[in-house]
Amino acid sequence: MTKSYLTESLPEKGGTLTLVGFGPGAEEHLTPIAKKSIEKADVVIGYRTYIDLVRHLVNGKSVIETGMTEEIDRATQAVELAYQGKHVALVSSGDVGIYGMAGLAFEVLSEKGWSGDEITVTVLPGITALSACASLLGAPLMHDFASISLSDLLTPWELIRKRLEAAAMADFVVALYNPRSSKRVHQVEEAREILLSHRSAETPVGIVKSAMRDGETVVITTLDHMLDYPIGMLTTILIGNSQTRLLAGRMVTPRGYRNKYDLETGERLVRKKETGAQ
Ligand SMILES: C[S@@+](CC[C@H](N)C(=O)[O-])C[C@H]1O[C@@H](n2cnc3c(N)ncnc32)[C@H](O)[C@@H]1O
Repeated sequence: MTKSYLTESLPEKGGTLTLVGFGPGAEEHLTPIAKKSIEKADVVIGYRTYIDLVRHLVNGKSVIETGMTEEIDRATQAVELAYQGKHVALVSSGDVGIYGMAGLAFEVLSEKGWSGDEITVTVLPGITALSACASLLGAPLMHDFASISLSDLLTPWELIRKRLEAAAMADFVVALYNPRSSKRVHQVEEAREILLSHRSAETPVGIVKSAMRDGETVVITTLDHMLDYPIGMLTTILIGNSQTRLLAGRMVTPRGYRNKYDLETGERLVRKKETGAQ
């Protein structure tokens, strides 16, 4: 196991920058090491809404909380303070390396000429929205899946469309992050059209809002009807592949055991091809 100053002692000299994903929201889904990193930090930096989710852990610390579009400012301040010798936790919801702050922090470090030695940088994983949402729906991600953000703030819409098309064509289960905001409305409608051109209107779709936080809602519907439900900034949508089924009210993508085994006895099914029988 990699030794870390979070499980051992803080480095004797130099600042630290810990990039922390704190999971979907509720404290029981925050990993112990992520919690420890926030407790050990001198300074905690994050988007205001996310800081609210860990507010009880930051009492007595210096806290820098900024608005949604101020990511560059947060990353820059985090790096600067670590260079000044502080122990800094830069927090994101879910996993910090999945549409979170980790990549931007490394870009800022690179601009500053960080060689890897000036400050200690650690990335801590968290439960990302797609796994939190999948667990509430059943087991929709049991087979290959593609995660696509519908936010075109940093990625051209044409490229997002291309990725949707490729994932739809290749029968991936598709997780849609950032599906809709008050200003971005048509993207989720186009995404549905693209998926409908490659799979059935009856394909199961899970729509989860605020997984594992206050206000959690879970809907299982179909590709045909997915736009009949509220979709917003705190929603993740999981769209099944051609094999995804509803089993006892849960959304499940079979991995293929049924083709190979008798699910009652556990015995392997003997196929004609394998025995050479005609
Ligand atoms: C900028 S991304 C951040 C993703 C985050 N780093 C993660 O790993 O979950 C924001 C999007 O994540 C999804 N999301 C984050 N938290 C969620 C939650 N608790 N329930 C449902 N979706 C969530 C939504 O699609 C939202 O628009």
